[in-house]
Amino acid sequence: MHTEKIRVDPIEPDVGSVSKAASYLQLGEVIVFPTETVYGLGGDALNVKAVGKIFKIKGRPQDNPLLLHVSSLEMAQRCASEDIARHSRLIDTLWPGPVTLIFRKSSEIPHFVTAGLDTVGIRFPAHPVARFLIELLGSPVAAPSANLSGKPSPTEEKHVIEDLDGLVPCMLLSGKAPLGLESTIIDLTETPPALLRPGPISPEQLQELLDDLTLAPSASDYRSSPKAPGMKYRHYSPDVDLVLIIGDLGKALAHSKKLSEGKKSVILCCEEHAKAFANIAPVRVLGSIHEPYGIALNLFGALRDLSKTGVDLAISESFPEKGIGLAIMNRLRKAASRIVE
Ligand code: TXA
Ligand code: MG
Repeated sequence: MHTEKIRVDPIEPDVGSVSKAASYLQLGEVIVFPTETVYGLGGDALNVKAVGKIFKIKGRPQDNPLLLHVSSLEMAQRCASEDIARHSRLIDTLWPGPVTLIFRKSSEIPHFVTAGLDTVGIRFPAHPVARFLIELLGSPVAAPSANLSGKPSPTEEKHVIEDLDGLVPCMLLSGKAPLGLESTIIDLTETPPALLRPGPISPEQLQELLDDLTLAPSASDYRSSPKAPGMKYRHYSPDVDLVLIIGDLGKALAHSKKLSEGKKSVILCCEEHAKAFANIAPVRVLGSIHEPYGIALNLFGALRDLSKTGVDLAISESFPEKGIGLAIMNRLRKAASRIVE
């Protein structure tokens, strides 16, 4: 299949370009589109055939539900069977933005989209291209991240091209995704509400809005059985073994030295520690420890590159688990083949 690649300005998207992409959705096709978190692989959520194509193209297990992307509160309400205005403080603060909220599902949404669940994850993206696309379709867009199942989520144009060129008829491309980590997921159908997947919105800010918010075990502990079905699959896995070392710089240096003996390895670390690690092996700097959003932005690209560098071992230091750091560590734990605690 030929993939039409349409480049579109992320801030002021051209009407003709986005309309072209929307017409593919109207025909029941599945396309790649940008969001502020990562690129999505979207189809009309109300068209069961289109939804089937998403699972097939991605190689995604059918017990893993898809999120619905909406472009207005009215559209969000159509997806839910409960009154979403009950959470208006949360919604007014966080939407549009990188947060997915789980509600009870309305009967309009096919069960196939939610993998049989009675709940539905609703995301109102802030990215102008995503919003415009959904608006033009006039229906919710079902979309997982636009990577092949198991690979890190795509944050750059080259990532979606690498995974999906020839598998979809159209890609809307708007450069690097501004945040680089998938949305924060909060389950509002539980009492108390639960943080299922940490993301760009810090848990500290969420706790201000939802004082009884609990951290689902899977959000912090990679071993427990997760409530977001997709969290049970190994994710973000580079083709190279990745060892994550939990602890301070001294511990990370000592273990890196031992692990990399006789191996061709690379170390993922922050700018501030690069010099110390460079004595042991080549380093891949993720960003400054003082700017964790920069680290988040570079993480998935770095994981993807590991398989291209010809190394047989990757080692990563750990990062402080506060703010977006909780999400960074959640993704690193999932990507790691071994964790040194
Ligand atoms: O930022 C994002 O959320 C990106 C962009 C494209 O919007 N999307 C994304 O979708 O990360 P995906 O499918 O890669 O991850 C969604 C996660 C999966 O782990 C899935 O199991 C979980 O959300 N999920 C979806 N519906 C759910 C539901 N009703 N209850 C619990 N978890 C759900
Ligand atoms: Mg995904």
